[in-house]
Amino acid sequence: MPKLTVVNRSGEESTIEAAEGLTVMEAIRDNGFDELLALCGGCCSCATCHVHVDPAFADKLPEMGVDEDDLLDSSDHRNDTSRLSCQIPFTSALDGLKVTIAEED
Ligand code: FES
Repeated sequence: MPKLTVVNRSGEESTIEAAEGLTVMEAIRDNGFDELLALCGGCCSCATCHVHVDPAFADKLPEMGVDEDDLLDSSDHRNDTSRLSCQIPFTSALDGLKVTIAEED
């Protein structure tokens, strides 16, 4: 299974294995990272699944949709690496992906 490295808000790194077909949000949530609230369950309406993605993977990610872009604008912590993790399907092409859970808004 592809591997995903998650950095929590304390800066601690953990590497997990996640089944393909999950979103990055589901992979993080299902592995017990309670800092990632994902309140809307992945329907792109809450922005509590905000992560910063390692720039090395930027061109492997799906294009950002308008809704995701608008929601990220509501975060004080948006930067060039920001994505909503529920909008990123986790595939083998993303093996080794590293994401950092964004600061709390
Ligand atoms: S889980 Fe709500 S926007 Fe991603």
